[in-house]
Amino acid sequence: MSDPLATLSTLLAPIFAEINGGEPSDPTVRPSDRADAQINGALALGKRAGLNPRELAQQIVDSGVLANVASELEVAGPGFINVTFAAAFLQVQLAEVVTDDRLGVAQAVNAKRVVIDYSAPNVAKEMHVGHLRSTVIGDSLVRMMEFVGHTVSRENHIGDWGRPFGMLIEHLLDLGEDVASEGLSQGDLDGFYKEANAKFKDSEPFQERARARVVLLQSNDEDTLVLWRRLVEMSNDYFNRVYNKLGVLLTDDDLAGESQYQSLMKGVHQRLEEQGLVIESDGATVVFPAGFKNRDGDPLPMITKSKTGAFMYATSDLACVVDRVERLGADLMLYVVGTPQANHLQMVFEVCRMASWLTEPTQAVHVNFGSVLGADGKMMRSRAGDSVKLVDLLDEAVERADASIAEKNPNMAAEERGAVAQAVGIGALKYADLSTDRIKDYVFDWDRMLAFEGNTGPYLQYAHARICSIFRRATIERSAVRDAPIVLGHAAEKALAMRIMGYPSAIDNTLDSYSPHKLCTYVYELASDFSSFYQECPILKSDEPMRTSRLALADLTARVLEHSLGLLGIVAPEEM
Ligand code: ARG
Repeated sequence: MSDPLATLSTLLAPIFAEINGGEPSDPTVRPSDRADAQINGALALGKRAGLNPRELAQQIVDSGVLANVASELEVAGPGFINVTFAAAFLQVQLAEVVTDDRLGVAQAVNAKRVVIDYSAPNVAKEMHVGHLRSTVIGDSLVRMMEFVGHTVSRENHIGDWGRPFGMLIEHLLDLGEDVASEGLSQGDLDGFYKEANAKFKDSEPFQERARARVVLLQSNDEDTLVLWRRLVEMSNDYFNRVYNKLGVLLTDDDLAGESQYQSLMKGVHQRLEEQGLVIESDGATVVFPAGFKNRDGDPLPMITKSKTGAFMYATSDLACVVDRVERLGADLMLYVVGTPQANHLQMVFEVCRMASWLTEPTQAVHVNFGSVLGADGKMMRSRAGDSVKLVDLLDEAVERADASIAEKNPNMAAEERGAVAQAVGIGALKYADLSTDRIKDYVFDWDRMLAFEGNTGPYLQYAHARICSIFRRATIERSAVRDAPIVLGHAAEKALAMRIMGYPSAIDNTLDSYSPHKLCTYVYELASDFSSFYQECPILKSDEPMRTSRLALADLTARVLEHSLGLLGIVAPEEM
């Protein structure tokens, strides 16, 4: 274990348990502004054991358990213990991080099979910024969960089935495949959908064709399925272009659209019936999940089958849970889906619990997120008032980054600048999204996200690039300093080292609530600590062995920066 705070907890556990009559009692170790750490646990323990917390704190100090760890221990206030770590102790712990490819992050003790449901755009409909959020948050959760050792299935639950496909297929036939494909795979999905919809409204014969087509689709008519597949492929081409530009892990192998659950719904519904969970209501079939009420306080039904006998979105999500639990053996399912679907998902989960498809310790979690807003504080729209075309947004991010790098670093060769602009533009966009608490809305603001100062993607990438440039200037390979001992003499060195050693806890905290913004905050603090160190501690100008020690600390910082940005799906260029 290389996190000094965690080491403190471990060292304190036995004495806390002893005083507590053999039962564990949390030492409650926290970061502190006054010292390096604060132990708060004597207060709760004192209360429980009927002892004076200050005396108890003193007893813990006098016991000598922290003798090798702390250079200073002070009992303060009602019974806190302020801890100043001994440099020698921190140096030993830091040396462990240096030699560790995982930078101190342990593998999860109980590795799980995790399904992450994310991205999930709808076929022949524009992918909106909400899908962007889901894609970016989901991608980073996948990377983190895999890194800590879980087995992750990525599932892209695209909306590729349902009534609109009747009119969409007929519209495809009217246009001809070539014309349709030009629009759809280029991202004019809204146009296609709107045209189909307009025809459906205006033309009686088209309506009839559309209805007949839905029936054919639902009865798996082969010619209809061929057309349907073409439509899905065209949309997927577009989605894949967006994913490529974004640099996320999703591929065609991760597609698990609504259509895949159609054949399972009948069986799942039958199991609900056998358990006596469904009820006829106004001709439809419904389940009443426990604890859900409408505005009048009456039980809220979840419709599983419509009056016309069609299964619903909710039914396909039920089938989906069953499939994930029973076929994939999921222990944990994360649904990275916008907040508006909270009620839908909670009802689905509750019905699954009632049917015993979702039983402890298997868990389903709605990893919800807020909206992306325009400068006017309303849902983000393009200038024409349509939803924003995502490829355009991504291209604009890269163009803007390119322009600002050209200005800041005019000496960079054009070819190199292309790749860097890609990393910086996309990184800025992702970081802006990930760094706000996901449950909140945020305002999309080009200037803010692309700024080189503040809590932004470019600032963090720049911190990394700056370290790389120190080594370039000194013509030293970064790997060449990794055997050198790091001496923590200056307060800024110590603060930076402690931050580096806090990386495992930062990942833990992030995954405790599936909140990537916590990791973002950590990376920002790391970059800020480096910046203070860089200001206060000369590196190349100092004498040996301090020079090499500081280079080694800088190299380790860059490794953690690159790695943590990587977990956020952000590339860290060596030069900017
Ligand atoms: N396609 C849906 C939408 O765009 C999101 C699907 C989310 N996943 C799920 N299992 N329901 O709103």
